[in-house]
Amino acid sequence: MNSTEDPITQIERLDRDLFTWIESQSSPMDRTAFLALQRATAACFGRYSYLEIGSYLGGTIVPHLLDPRCEAVFSIDPRPDVVPDDREGGTTFSYAGITAQTMLDGLRKIAPASVGKIRCFDSDAAQVDVAALHPRPRLALIDGEHTVQAVLADFDFCLRAITPDGAILFHDANIIYPALEKAVARLRAERRPFVELVFDGTVFALCFSPELVQQDPHLRSVRDHGRRLRQVALKERIRRFTPAPVLRLWKRLRGPDAAA
Ligand SMILES: C[S@@+](CC[C@H](N)C(=O)[O-])C[C@H]1O[C@@H](n2cnc3c(N)ncnc32)[C@H](O)[C@@H]1O
Repeated sequence: MNSTEDPITQIERLDRDLFTWIESQSSPMDRTAFLALQRATAACFGRYSYLEIGSYLGGTIVPHLLDPRCEAVFSIDPRPDVVPDDREGGTTFSYAGITAQTMLDGLRKIAPASVGKIRCFDSDAAQVDVAALHPRPRLALIDGEHTVQAVLADFDFCLRAITPDGAILFHDANIIYPALEKAVARLRAERRPFVELVFDGTVFALCFSPELVQQDPHLRSVRDHGRRLRQVALKERIRRFTPAPVLRLWKRLRGPDAAA
């Protein structure tokens, strides 16, 4: 249900109705994670700008579009017809026919006065000059091509693009976990401090400001009680290498209420 409530109030209580305006390829748990990072960023820094790599119809842009504290949105998406993906079986995805204009037309219907703060780049992130992203983003979401190579290239771009105290979110951690392991290893090798958050669902975040996490109750609880990346990776590796009949039997034994 769409709401006429003040968007800041909705963000403060992590109201997932903010995602009902436009289709987003994210689960309810992922939406809570996105909103918690948005709430924390606004609380920590006041005004902020948001960078998104992989936007599709703009569903994950909507909460930032509606948030008056967000002064700019940068959407990077080369809009290829077919996108390679690291899911089993050499999967590809088709987003044919969806352009940046399709997305902007949809978003304009929701917030005509705010759509001007969105700037679209129809290319890979590596081809974008980070100096063009002004004001510098505090928050970035990587949700473009789900292959190790592309995610690492997007991560490298985001590291250069965001402010040193910003945060980088990744969607579909259950698919791109080999890239996430490499990203974390890179930060450790560079001795760059960070807080990693593994949310329920498939969102993974690297936060470069401990205060950002500390001052938000949801982020604090994920930091203190959430899963670890190695647990996600282990579970996915077991799932990938276990024969399908054994997996089916395991799921039956655990019952319908067991966590996915
Ligand atoms: C999973 S969808 C994004 C969903 C969106 N974040 C949401 O939940 O509303 C993936 C998007 O990534 C885009 N994409 C494909 N290859 C890309 C690349 N190399 N860089 C950035 N985006 C890419 C696709 O065009 C598509 O729009």
